[in-house]
Amino acid sequence: KTYESILVERRGRVGLITLNRPQALNALNRQIMLDVTDAVAVFDADDSIGAMVITGSAKAFAAGADIKEMQPLGYVDIFKSDKFGPWDILTRTRKPIIAAVAGFALGGGCELAMMCDFILAADTAKFGQPEIKLGVTPGMGGTQRFTHAVGKAKAMEMCLTGRMMDAAEAERAGLVARIVEADKLLDDAIATAQTIASMSMPVAMMVKECINAAMNMPLNEGLRFEKRVFHSTFALADQKEGMQAFVDKRKADFKNI
Ligand code: HXC
Repeated sequence: KTYESILVERRGRVGLITLNRPQALNALNRQIMLDVTDAVAVFDADDSIGAMVITGSAKAFAAGADIKEMQPLGYVDIFKSDKFGPWDILTRTRKPIIAAVAGFALGGGCELAMMCDFILAADTAKFGQPEIKLGVTPGMGGTQRFTHAVGKAKAMEMCLTGRMMDAAEAERAGLVARIVEADKLLDDAIATAQTIASMSMPVAMMVKECINAAMNMPLNEGLRFEKRVFHSTFALADQKEGMQAFVDKRKADFKNI
């Protein structure tokens, strides 16, 4: 299947989605949203895929929602259409998704990266929520996921001034998992996704679900949820295989059952 605004490839058990609107620094218009959400749903449903990577270009992961597309809209248009609602599918995806970010990740671009399970940043990455400069607030998690990731002080300063933070600051603040040299970003992200895809897929899905529960639940409920999930892993053939492989001093060969 080919798409208009993204490139889609399989690298082993990894599904790679590359945002591809270079003329607009990958600004997130309706077409790119339809393309990405479709590709993610297809990979999520495909047993031969264990993890996904979403990336952009060297210059921009994505420079935000498409401002030219939003400019003419009024309140009723944007309210009725819930224009950015379809992006939510990324947060319902059960397989892990890595955002590999080089260059600008601004506004909706930063929010898209934060909807992924974690961010690997090139040393060239720049993050920001500049919506306030356009006379709007963030609308896809910029005041929420950003605050969870970096804390109130930095979230307030970033969203109120619209300034950008570089990769080093983003790593210190806890927004990104790791910084990688720009020319190694994609290889590193794919290798990381491949490592995840070599684990037991149901267990990787459970880990993702547990960590997301930590973002949404009080600690006591999250701990109870985690314990129940942990107990349930002992029903898997992959638990037997993983522990037998350790005892045998060999690499586990998970069957995803
Ligand atoms: C539409 C965009 C765009 C955007 C860049 N372009 N960002 N088009 N929407 N978000 C276009 C430019 O208009 C230009 O087109 C081309 O891409 C190259 O951009 P330049 O500005 O010439 O590049 P440069 O000078 O290198 O500056 C890069 C930049 C700047 C600093 C990233 O482009 C910029 O500030 N972009 C806007 C960032 C932003 O405000 N994002 C938040 C959007 S609001 P032409 O045709 O002139 O060559 C948002 C709300 C989300 O995301 C809410 C979701 C619910």
